Amino acid sequence: MSLLRFGVTLLLFAHSLGDPGTFSVDYENDCFRKDGEVFRYISGSIHYNRIPRVYWKDRLLKMYMAGLNAVQTYIPWNYHEESPGRYSFSGDQDVEYFLQLAKDIGLLVILRPGPYICGEWDMGGLPAWLLNKKDIVLRSSDPDYITAVDAWMGKLLPMMKPYLYQNGGPIITVQVENEYGSYFACDYNYMRHLTKLFRSHLGDDVVLFTTDGAGVSFLKCGSIQDLYATVDFGPGGNVTAAFDAQRHAEPRGPLVNSEFYTGWLDHWGSRHSVVSTARVAKSLNEILSMGANVNLYMFIGGTNFGYWNGANTPFAPQPTSYDYDAPLSEAGDLTEKYFAIREVIKMHRKIPEGPIPPTTPKFAYGTVVMKQLQTVSDALEILSFSGPVKGMYPQTFIELSQAFGYVLYRTRLPVDCSTPTPLSSPLNGVHDRAYVSVDGVSAGILERNRAISINVTGKSGSQVDILVENMGRINYGKSINDFKGLVSNLTLGADTLLGWTMYSLSIDEAVSQGLLGETKPTAPPAPAALSLPAFYGGSFIIPDGIPDLPQDTYIKLPQWRKGQVWINGFNLGRYWPSRGPQGLLANHQQGLYFRECLFFNVKMHTREKCFMYYHRAVDTLWDLCSVAFTKKKIIAVRLDVCEALFF
Ligand SMILES: *[C@@H]1O[C@H](CO)[C@@H](O)[C@H](O)[C@H]1NC(C)=O
Ligand SMILES: *[C@@H]1O[C@H](CO)[C@@H](O)[C@H](O)[C@H]1NC(C)=O
Ligand SMILES: *[C@@H]1O[C@H](CO)[C@@H](O)[C@H](O)[C@H]1NC(C)=O
Repeated sequence: MSLLRFGVTLLLFAHSLGDPGTFSVDYENDCFRKDGEVFRYISGSIHYNRIPRVYWKDRLLKMYMAGLNAVQTYIPWNYHEESPGRYSFSGDQDVEYFLQLAKDIGLLVILRPGPYICGEWDMGGLPAWLLNKKDIVLRSSDPDYITAVDAWMGKLLPMMKPYLYQNGGPIITVQVENEYGSYFACDYNYMRHLTKLFRSHLGDDVVLFTTDGAGVSFLKCGSIQDLYATVDFGPGGNVTAAFDAQRHAEPRGPLVNSEFYTGWLDHWGSRHSVVSTARVAKSLNEILSMGANVNLYMFIGGTNFGYWNGANTPFAPQPTSYDYDAPLSEAGDLTEKYFAIREVIKMHRKIPEGPIPPTTPKFAYGTVVMKQLQTVSDALEILSFSGPVKGMYPQTFIELSQAFGYVLYRTRLPVDCSTPTPLSSPLNGVHDRAYVSVDGVSAGILERNRAISINVTGKSGSQVDILVENMGRINYGKSINDFKGLVSNLTLGADTLLGWTMYSLSIDEAVSQGLLGETKPTAPPAPAALSLPAFYGGSFIIPDGIPDLPQDTYIKLPQWRKGQVWINGFNLGRYWPSRGPQGLLANHQQGLYFRECLFFNVKMHTREKCFMYYHRAVDTLWDLCSVAFTKKKIIAVRLDVCEALFF
């Protein structure tokens, strides 16, 4: 009885923060101190922006049960400030709720609010609208950049302040910038400005830090006074030598690896990255044996939903899956690596006992028949909310006030092309992929760095439609000012193409409002021919009478080429099975397709996942969501349109 009452009391307090504490660097004893005691963190990276909110608790619990005592997350600026001064912090963007959950579960937080985060995220987390100033020097003292940063941090950091450990919250340390020593600018005034800015909002007590590659050359421009310098490095190398680099910048204080790589990122067209569990376990054990602090990057990767993936140079965008070969899979499932890491941690720290949240069940909903809806060209009036813009020369996405997705550029053939004539982008200015048609017939695809010219035929005056896809902005290095669209002129033979009509497309809005209709039936294109960019729709029913539905699932697009999938208006992400690696994994490793359809449903019906846990605080089984959970049977939910844009 008394035990039960204790549990209830705890639940009541679950949504307030705790007592203020202290957290600091002890330089004399080379460690952190938490509430006066020697403290070492073993943390894992989880990006709330890559996981649907309904699963945050499940993933955090799995991390807690692995023996971690902290989690690390980035805050992507562009995810929260879509246009200047317009902030979103609700639903999947509710970072405060995420922090509260971590705190309730018993995990501390290492916060990395940028402003630049890298993270294989569009433009490294910087909002594309910064490019309204064409020659802006990002991540520097450029006054326009600084003005935007000050405004953003003026919004974000006061929100974070109550969550600092000193104020009873879970945040023990806060990173300033990210691997700044790898950036060309090396602008100490910028780093000094950020330091002052962070201090002015967060106070003098919080531990602020930087992270750089484990080499003296990186630390040269990355570290600065008042910010504790840490390093990042993966498994397999010489751990002592890597920490020697940190010692170069910080002769005393705790050893910290802020990004210990459990796996690695992927690019379209390259093999899926895999890092052996044995290597990860061995190096992790070496790091922990030295008494060092560590953050495992990633502990769970998750998904680049919608258009959020970034790209590397030479231009190589990352796929929808951010699985990362992490200990928890993209779908949040337990892997062999998870258990191996747990065993290593167990040798260094007492880990929680009790059942680990199980892998979530998946369900195969069967084949979804897809019917052709309108082509993009046919649907222009529906898709172009703002109407077209006319100009002599092509304009970029930003000039057309569009950040993501697709823009249609239309012009006419100025001369007869009775023989195949090259339509080219001599300056490689198609950013990033263009689907070209002449008078409603597909003519070919131009692609950044890969295909700068195709041949076209047609009569003078024929309509040329060029649908340009933004495949994700560069997130690392000196090319992060990544303009999208047609960023230089196109030529036809020797002539520059002129007289453009440009349609900024609000596809996501049109899809979620169900505006796309079916087309009049036309003869299906010959199988080998390129099809025109078109929408396809289909629907499926969550069957009745099977317990625990709806469940997660995976979408397979066996004969499809490239495009974007929406389910019930939610933009799941890009598919490109012909280039892979996402599609190629199907045969041997289920689970690396797109994250499924289901959480939409879960969201719509506010169904919470429930697990019984052995919880350290109450030392008994504790139903973690008994308060929020209302038992509601969902019967035969119809998932409306499973929309796809197909090229
Ligand atoms: C690792 O690096 C340290 C310090 O640079 C060096 O003393 C040691 O010999 C290296 N170990 C191996 C196995 O190379
Ligand atoms: C375009 O046509 C010319 C002449 O037929 C040919 O030499 C060239 O390879 C073609 N280019 C492409 C990109 O197909
Ligand atoms: C296209 O060419 C014209 C004339 O040379 C030039 O003024 C304009 O800046 C070019 N446009 C782009 C987008 O490169």
